Amino acid sequence: MLWNYWHVGCASSQLGNKPKAIRIGDTGIAIYRDSVGRACALLDRCCHRGVKLSDGHVAPTGHIACAYHGWQYDMEGRCVHIPSLTEGRKIPVKCKTQSFPVVEQDSYVWIWMGDGNPIPEIPPVIPDFEKHAWHQGVTLYNCNARMLIENQFDTCHPMFTHPKSHPSWFFAKANKSKDHSYETRITESGFVTFTPPAKVGSDPIPPDNMGVTRFELPGRVLLKQKSIFSDFQIVLHVVQVTDTTSRLEWLQKVKGEKHNVQWIEQEPLINAQDRFVLESAQLNYSNGGDDFEQSVEVDHVTLLLRKIVALAGAGEWEGVRNTLQQRRVINFRY
Ligand code: FES
Ligand SMILES: [Fe+2]
Repeated sequence: MLWNYWHVGCASSQLGNKPKAIRIGDTGIAIYRDSVGRACALLDRCCHRGVKLSDGHVAPTGHIACAYHGWQYDMEGRCVHIPSLTEGRKIPVKCKTQSFPVVEQDSYVWIWMGDGNPIPEIPPVIPDFEKHAWHQGVTLYNCNARMLIENQFDTCHPMFTHPKSHPSWFFAKANKSKDHSYETRITESGFVTFTPPAKVGSDPIPPDNMGVTRFELPGRVLLKQKSIFSDFQIVLHVVQVTDTTSRLEWLQKVKGEKHNVQWIEQEPLINAQDRFVLESAQLNYSNGGDDFEQSVEVDHVTLLLRKIVALAGAGEWEGVRNTLQQRRVINFRY
């Protein structure tokens, strides 16, 4: 789990007056809005008898009240009211629960679960968010978060996994299979990959590219595919829930002059198709580990992603980023 990063708690539109239970890296968190609509996040455990605070309610004072004996907490996690105490009795100072820094930005409630004060102070902004109209939704997967991120960079699967949904499936249908290359480049917060490669590493990404996908730590994927088939642009945030479950908070650009964000309840077909293969694989990883795995040339991007995530997990990414091979060109048939 990459703790020292901002993580998406939920979409802004999905947080109302009722407390909401979420999990990030196996930690239960109660998120709610106080009396002035500010998003707050507390460890989802009352310090009295352990009831989940997300099962409670928000009192008119804006404090979250436990469902069992009504203890109330402020946004810093301090217990500020214990109904059973008689006049003059003080609230013991140890009565508190953990609080997490929260920022609401780009239609998401972001939570900092790392050490100390958040660095950066606010989450990285979503590029051009205010310029476009978006559909927004969430899909839960019974698979590890890293598998779900790897899937977004897996160039060759759409023609098998995504019939009638993915732009790359339509591309494969309309074209004879032929040889292509993609390039990967290390960036400040991860890497970028695109097809076709630039002529030399110092060239910018070719403007006539068939698609550009970026990975930014800890779990952001930005994908743009512009072709005669579609103008496909998605922004994904993958959040690790447990070792074998993850949450995909997705945004897809839609046609529209004005910026707006519309919540979509239904699971997109592409997500359901990926869920089918990823959950199938997860069962095998859970049962037998990953020693059986074999990879071929096109899987370079997957292995690069694993390396970056492992380095970040060990706190070594910043230190060794510049020593990694900055650019690779990989051949594949599609
Ligand atoms: S368990 Fe929460 S108030 Fe008693
Ligand atoms: Fe996919």
